Amino acid sequence: MNDLRIPIHVAMIMDGNGRWAKERGLKRTAGHKKGAEVVREITTYCAKIGIKYLTLYAFSTENWKRPKLEVEYLMKLLDKYLKEELKVYLENNIKFRAIGDLSKFSKTLQNRIIKTQEVTSSCTGLTQVLALNYGSKDEIVRAVKKLNERGLEVTEENIESCLDTSGIPPVDIMIRTSGEVRLSNYLLWQNAYSEMFFTQTYWPDFTQGEFDDIISDFSRRERRFGAV
Ligand code: FPP
Repeated sequence: MNDLRIPIHVAMIMDGNGRWAKERGLKRTAGHKKGAEVVREITTYCAKIGIKYLTLYAFSTENWKRPKLEVEYLMKLLDKYLKEELKVYLENNIKFRAIGDLSKFSKTLQNRIIKTQEVTSSCTGLTQVLALNYGSKDEIVRAVKKLNERGLEVTEENIESCLDTSGIPPVDIMIRTSGEVRLSNYLLWQNAYSEMFFTQTYWPDFTQGEFDDIISDFSRRERRFGAV
């Protein structure tokens, strides 16, 4: 990874867990279980190579429409992941932060999220941001309400300060796995000038090697941010 331009903020839509499982004759939940292992691997890798923010779409505001058993499985998996991950976060100097409307989750899961944020708050390496019950339109609506409540003038800076991602720099690289080419209500504001990468690989098959290839490609791209 020498000579490469390491991005500050990488965002990912981890798609394809269900299809990965189906192709193997497994239940969709098996894809999520394997997906959680890849979350750990890619997160620790990002910490190792010096990326500062990794934002992962773990549960969207639309995901509640999935079968009840799948939603329940995802909730349990998240709780288990955060419980087991605490040691990994601390060992790797990773700060954990959640974005999204957490009020819809069980008290147990909300407490787990709050505790994980508190315990890792002094870590200074990578910040792993999990988007949980997150939808960009919902985030913007909540931000505008906050703006009104605080009596703030409508400016880009003030809107940014009211978003869930307040204090986090804009996305440099946006990656979506599984061949789908859309943003699905993810970080619409924060992706304004991101470089986008779409891969056919299902999330459970996504590797550090493929991630390296994306960083190499990013290093070669010229970003003009609207200038010439
Ligand atoms: C998309 O695959 C994935 C999700 C909706 C959830 C993402 C969850 C994980 C990667 C695992 C758990 C995460 C953590 C942080 C513990 P899909 O089910 O839509 O796949 P499909 O499009 O092939 O059906």
